[in-house]
Amino acid sequence: MTIKLEIEHLAKIYPTGDGVKQIDFYVNEGELVTLLGPSGCGKTTVLRSVGGFIEPTSGTIKINNKEVHHLPPEKRPSAMVFQSYNLWPHMTVYDNLAFSMKLKKVKKKVIQEKVTEVLKLVHLLGMEKKYPSELSGGQQQRIALARALLLEPEVLLLDEPFSALDAKLRHELREELREIQAKRNLTMLFVTHDQEEALSISDKIVVMNNGHIEQIAEPQDVYNTPASLFVAQFIGRMNFVKGKAVNNTIRIGDLTFPFDDAYTGNVTIGVRPEDIQLADNRTSSIDALVDKSMMLGHFAEITLQTKMGSLKMFVDREQMKQIALKSTIPIHLNRFLIFNETGEVLNIIGG
Ligand SMILES: Nc1ncnc2c1ncn2[C@@H]1O[C@H](COP(=O)(O)OP(=O)(O)O)[C@@H](O)[C@H]1O
Ligand SMILES: [Mg+2]
Repeated sequence: MTIKLEIEHLAKIYPTGDGVKQIDFYVNEGELVTLLGPSGCGKTTVLRSVGGFIEPTSGTIKINNKEVHHLPPEKRPSAMVFQSYNLWPHMTVYDNLAFSMKLKKVKKKVIQEKVTEVLKLVHLLGMEKKYPSELSGGQQQRIALARALLLEPEVLLLDEPFSALDAKLRHELREELREIQAKRNLTMLFVTHDQEEALSISDKIVVMNNGHIEQIAEPQDVYNTPASLFVAQFIGRMNFVKGKAVNNTIRIGDLTFPFDDAYTGNVTIGVRPEDIQLADNRTSSIDALVDKSMMLGHFAEITLQTKMGSLKMFVDREQMKQIALKSTIPIHLNRFLIFNETGEVLNIIGG
């Protein structure tokens, strides 16, 4: 695989002291890599450094193995799509798309062909004469994407492009972006604070927290084997229970589990709701009082009270019938993670 974008030891410290540091990652040709993290963690700072809108404090940024940091944004082989679309309101769709080609004195016929082709790609053929204000948010963002694609960038940068849209539209545009990626073999760096969006759209996720990278992995691995307590908390749902590791056991209240590790001290046990199951009589079980249940479509979320504390469990529609409110059921933790006091993963038990 060819590396298209490579970022090494990037740091950007603003005069306030905020910013990002020790940013190292790469994006292969044809890949969609997502920067994911809570608001203020530094995603936009990294993206805008790549695009040339921010001058990094230190580090290198290479596209196609060439350093780009001395180039202004318009000279970089990248293009950016913003959350706010940034279309020119006084120009028609056609003129918005044709603008940069006209500046470059591209022949009218070629411009027409290219605009038609890209409008087809974003499913908006026939909208040439409309003004941005006559389009819906989703359509405006498709035009903004089309405009970026016309620049034929080596790397396409997208900063929360779908955040301003409603859930259904967001979903549709994610799928469309993936289709376009496949058709055009696009290389993309995508920014979102939405973990569900990141899980569904990415080839690789760079999880950021407070100006640094916590983990780089494929979506499935970020979900199954989070590198830290932060990642586990931020991605998907997880129950957290406090315990103590002593003499090769983990103690939670008066419950004890064997623990094959030399670590001694406070621990946090993390278990995903889908990894809690009704125990059959072959497995060791914990008694749980069924406190609440909430139907969430094809599955239900059950709140349990146990000796470990309150736990959420997911069960499917069929199983719901076996679980009566205020009854006591035996549960088994199929898989759980153990974190030390500083939030590092010590061990993953089961599954
Ligand atoms: N121009 C700026 N001047 C000073 N601080 C800034 C500037 N831009 C961003 N920051 C700070 O840098 C940190 C990262 O911001 P940003 O990259 O916008 O995060 P994100 O995109 O993940 O929300 C935040 O603490 C933010 O307040
Ligand atoms: Mg941002």
